[in-house]
Amino acid sequence: MNYALEAANPYLLGAYAPVFEEVVDDNLKVIGEIPKDINGIYVRNGPNPKFEPKGHYHWFDGDGMLHAVHIENGKATYRNRWVRTKNLATEEAAGHSLWQGLMGKLAANMHLPFNRGVPLKDTANTAVAFHDGKLLAGWYMCGDLYEIDPITLETKGVQDYNGTLTSKAMAHVKVDEQANEMMFFDYELTQPYLAYGVINGNGTVKHFTKIPTPGPRIPHDLGITENYSILMDLPLIYDLQLMMKIGRAIPVFKRDMPSRFGVIPRFGNPEDVRWFEANPCYIYHTINAWEEGDEIVMDCCVNDDPTPQKELPKGASAVEKLNEYLRLKAYMHRYRFNLKTGETKEYRLDDLVTEFPLMNSQYLGRPSRYAYNQRFDLSETLRFDAIVKYDTESDTRQVFEYGKNKFGSESPFIPRENAQSEDDGYVISFVTDAVEGTSEVVIVDAQNLDQEPLARIQLPQRVPLGFHGCWVNGDRLLR
Ligand SMILES: [Fe+2]
Repeated sequence: MNYALEAANPYLLGAYAPVFEEVVDDNLKVIGEIPKDINGIYVRNGPNPKFEPKGHYHWFDGDGMLHAVHIENGKATYRNRWVRTKNLATEEAAGHSLWQGLMGKLAANMHLPFNRGVPLKDTANTAVAFHDGKLLAGWYMCGDLYEIDPITLETKGVQDYNGTLTSKAMAHVKVDEQANEMMFFDYELTQPYLAYGVINGNGTVKHFTKIPTPGPRIPHDLGITENYSILMDLPLIYDLQLMMKIGRAIPVFKRDMPSRFGVIPRFGNPEDVRWFEANPCYIYHTINAWEEGDEIVMDCCVNDDPTPQKELPKGASAVEKLNEYLRLKAYMHRYRFNLKTGETKEYRLDDLVTEFPLMNSQYLGRPSRYAYNQRFDLSETLRFDAIVKYDTESDTRQVFEYGKNKFGSESPFIPRENAQSEDDGYVISFVTDAVEGTSEVVIVDAQNLDQEPLARIQLPQRVPLGFHGCWVNGDRLLR
């Protein structure tokens, strides 16, 4: 592969550099011991450009690649596979890249298939979720949900739920494991801009409704409780006139606009939405939300200023711009939306910059106290140097540091068999050594996060730093 064009782009080098082999390996060396009560699959999505990028490369552009470790009876098998999207198939047929990415000119892609009304490639590179026996990979700009075989990681194709899913879907879907329902949203550049739906456990879109917002918005995630969903209208927006003028899809942060949160009953319609205002911010990821008396509580990671932190010099290079745009400053934050009074209260929960939060997925939508976030090392590029376990009840945190030159991945919680409490289990992460060019899977005790890992599973190849992951427990695979 000749990546000479972007040789100076840090997101194509070192720990970020793509890999080109699709590997299966069930003969992995383990340092320590894999707990025998772990049974399931840890899978993580991320960008891995198959062909040399056309134009300047943005980290969000790369084709989706899944890395997974399947653990059963103390043994582990590693696999990685590209998500074989329709757009990747088109490029494979051509033998080279066709689409320019986020840092390219949209005009260069006008002759190619559009996705979600924009001329960008749907890479399905962002997140991965499991619902109703289906492993689903999705895209952060709202795209197709690609169904993946959870064991082999082969792409089965676009999942449209027997034709009942008529919209696209945002990569961040939310699964209520107790009700076996999956909530999703979609946004577009034309009125009414936002849509929301629920997929039931029989593989059917059970509810779908369009929600008007004052203009085109780019929400990244949603919250769910047992009876409600929380949609976001945040002041990081696409200014369509500016987009036309500069020919790029660059969002603008409107500091004078409030953040708005739309609380909708799970099966509600636009007239049922209660909007709550809060301080201007941008939110990539929610952690959990639940009902408490008259209030909806929602924990998330909040960016007060999501646009570049420093003034970019005139003539700044594409790489300098990329680094500044990806310099996220997010903090643990709690909202309380009072359904009786319409009042919003908000609280900053910590002063550490952390993001990519996960929690015990069995508690999603119900009261929870623990979150497992990634700490940013605040260097030039975006990378995670530690897992931070938050206990929002005792207002304490525990830190697991990946180690010198080592960077981890979004880290799901694995419940112990017959778990006695919310944090009775393990936390798992793909960890890459940026100097050695090697990777391992690290399993730590969730109740003793600051202690040595229980197991370090050595992998046959480097796992490039990436985006979102999930844990699929073995009993859910069989359903
Ligand atoms: Fe995300």
